[in-house]
Amino acid sequence: MEFVTHSAEETRALGGRLAQVLGPGTVVAFTGDLGAGKTAFISGMARGLGIQEQVTSPTFTIVNEYEGGRLPLFHFDMYRLGSADELFHIGWEDYLVRGGVCAVEWSENVAEAIEDDAVRVDIARGEDENSRMIRIEGVSL
Ligand SMILES: Nc1ncnc2c1ncn2[C@@H]1O[C@H](COP(=O)(O)OP(=O)(O)O)[C@@H](O)[C@H]1O
Ligand SMILES: [Mg+2]
Repeated sequence: MEFVTHSAEETRALGGRLAQVLGPGTVVAFTGDLGAGKTAFISGMARGLGIQEQVTSPTFTIVNEYEGGRLPLFHFDMYRLGSADELFHIGWEDYLVRGGVCAVEWSENVAEAIEDDAVRVDIARGEDENSRMIRIEGVSL
């Protein structure tokens, strides 16, 4: 499925819609450049799950955990990871079985760790500054 959004808020709203149809243990693998809107989309997912806390980029921590919603949200940023090995070191497999949603920015850096059943979200810049093309695969909205 492909969507076009025209503001960060529209991207958040789409993230919220996606979150509502996800089950426990789902991995959502994001691709797209810096500034594409991955974190914006994931903050909308948190909102859609009913999480009150504000989502911030976990670039310096690799993973942020958000509880208190319909499902926990584990927000990974693999920007600084060189390989999937490092992800396994921080306990990736434990996160997978905790019944949450694992949202993974820069999933291209850990491609070997992403199973075929993951939901894929690719975000690309559109024709003007605030437009984005968002392709979602592996689930229907
Ligand atoms: N349609 C849009 N969707 C998402 N973000 C947008 C959009 N238009 C403009 N933006 C801006 O682009 C930036 C996206 O930042 P962010 O979500 O942190 O990107 P990423 O996590 O992919 O690096 C924000 O400054 C946001 O306000
Ligand atoms: Mg980000």
